[in-house]
Amino acid sequence: MIKKCLFPAAGYGTRFLPATKSMPKEMMPIVNKPLIEYGVEEALEAGMSDICIVTGRGKRALEDHFDANYELEHQISGSSKEELLTGIRKIINECTFSYTRQREMKGLGHAILTGQTLVGDQPFGVVLADDLCINSDGSGVLSQMAQLYRQFRCSIVAVMEVPEDEVHKYGVIAGQAISDDLIRVENMVEKPRKEDAPSNLAIIGRYILTPDIFDLISDTQPGKGGEIQITDALMAQAERGCVLAYKFKGERFDCGSIEGFIEATNYCYDAFRK
Ligand code: UTP
Repeated sequence: MIKKCLFPAAGYGTRFLPATKSMPKEMMPIVNKPLIEYGVEEALEAGMSDICIVTGRGKRALEDHFDANYELEHQISGSSKEELLTGIRKIINECTFSYTRQREMKGLGHAILTGQTLVGDQPFGVVLADDLCINSDGSGVLSQMAQLYRQFRCSIVAVMEVPEDEVHKYGVIAGQAISDDLIRVENMVEKPRKEDAPSNLAIIGRYILTPDIFDLISDTQPGKGGEIQITDALMAQAERGCVLAYKFKGERFDCGSIEGFIEATNYCYDAFRK
């Protein structure tokens, strides 16, 4: 059973400036809940109650969100507003939280390596909270992946088909189909030009990683954009052993972009009103 889930949340969120100048991107609300809370709910549903967050400067609000606020709670105690805290109270009661800081933003691979002190030597989930995933017909994306992990015991990345003029925004995979929704990864390229993309299957912000990934990241040189890319370390892992790509069930919204954020807000507001 995978217990730990890592949230790399140190990025600057420059696409959302000026909103993210002093507020973490992960605290931006979709309707009335911050993005990171949706991610932690998804992790908890998958049985991952040890939440490890990689933060950076200006991200204190994340720690405060997952802590008690006695003054506020006392103020609304006994009023109808109290029920608005039911979800976050459940999370605080059922999860443990640990934090570490990434001092320099050297990329997602580097952020994951920074989390090694929190994760230790065990398989773990990774959630990029700005990718909001919702599966209203069944279990969440991380839970679907945890189930696959129990069967295959290797790293798994969540993928979706994207239009070919969008492949340059993602890590893109190709490989051998194991079933309709599962591929054994044989090739993986970070942010390819559409002419160079091995397919249109893009990696989104959900991973299950086995702990040997940490040594592989340590050996990874800066790649695209001068950043240490998790895609490069995963390619090394795929060459030595096995990495699977899973076409998940559900909706995914890129809430790191304005368009995705608005789409997610509209989608969740419809559910909220029902
Ligand atoms: P993004 O590529 O969305 O970068 O990172 P960003 O800095 O957050 O946003 P923009 O592009 O400037 O608008 C994907 C995820 O990886 C984390 C981010 O916090 C986000 O969850 N990340 C990225 C880190 O934690 N550290 C890094 O050095 C880079």
